[in-house]
Amino acid sequence: MFVDRILKKVRAQFTKDNWFETVCESYSNPPVIFRGRKLPAFPPDTIQINTTGQAGRKTLQEAFVFYEDCVGTFERHGSAIKSSDRLLDFGVGWGRIARFFLKELPLENIHGVDVVERSIQICRETFGSDNFNVTSPFPPTGLQSASFSHVVGYSVFSHLSEEACSAWMEEFHRILAPGGVIALTTRGRPFFDFCESLRGQNHSGYLGALASIFDDFGAARAQYDRGEFVHSNRNGVNGGGAMTADFYGETFIPEKYAGQAYARRFDLLEFQYDASRQTHPIMFFKKK
Ligand SMILES: C[S@@+](CC[C@H](N)C(=O)[O-])C[C@H]1O[C@@H](n2cnc3c(N)ncnc32)[C@H](O)[C@@H]1O
Repeated sequence: MFVDRILKKVRAQFTKDNWFETVCESYSNPPVIFRGRKLPAFPPDTIQINTTGQAGRKTLQEAFVFYEDCVGTFERHGSAIKSSDRLLDFGVGWGRIARFFLKELPLENIHGVDVVERSIQICRETFGSDNFNVTSPFPPTGLQSASFSHVVGYSVFSHLSEEACSAWMEEFHRILAPGGVIALTTRGRPFFDFCESLRGQNHSGYLGALASIFDDFGAARAQYDRGEFVHSNRNGVNGGGAMTADFYGETFIPEKYAGQAYARRFDLLEFQYDASRQTHPIMFFKKK
């Protein structure tokens, strides 16, 4: 039994194409050593659930799909991640996404920012790195200009106001080196239907709030279909704590808007959404 567990662990660590299983193992059976270092530990399940809706393998599965899409798409556009590159995880939370990039990058080259102090503390402790820093809701950050090659942000532009998104795109432009690339998720069109379907079901809490983010879901959908930025900061969908209604809520960015609004600074490389696989659409940009 004991030997089996050890063998499983060793196998997970050395199977080249089994990175997802290796990271899952670092949750279920820590510590897991990868390239001579312990993979980051995890915060308690309650914290994982409060920030991502799920814990353990399930929440890692969603993160892994995004990570794989980033790696593959960056590569397809001539921006494959090299070990000398530097990546910023914007809205890093407890480091769910950032940890997967340890396959491509040394720990020293992975950075994260977040508005929640506790999340940054968790990252600093679990990754054993001081590359994680608290930011204010609007830039600037203290990050050096032209010092990053890649920025990723999962489930952050699915919440920020139009003004906050624009300000952060300017900041990403500043901190990215020439040709730097970005991957950001946003709410997809089916999320309007999901929220509307919650109506009349007497949900409380977040689900109840989602049911009433718009008085008229048809009008919100039409706005989206015209290529406009759609955002609601009604009660219950601002994140609470550091996430106040002046910049946080539920955000739907359509492809047309993504292609036009930031065009002075970025090319939209791809707007990816395969709802059968991806939880959220991903917008890929390249710095002009
Ligand atoms: C839904 S969580 C996703 C966390 C993480 N990206 C993940 O997928 O596990 C959204 C994160 O964005 C952070 N956030 C919200 N507003 C932000 C802002 N203006 N600047 C930076 N981070 C922000 C929140 O604190 C939270 O950690």
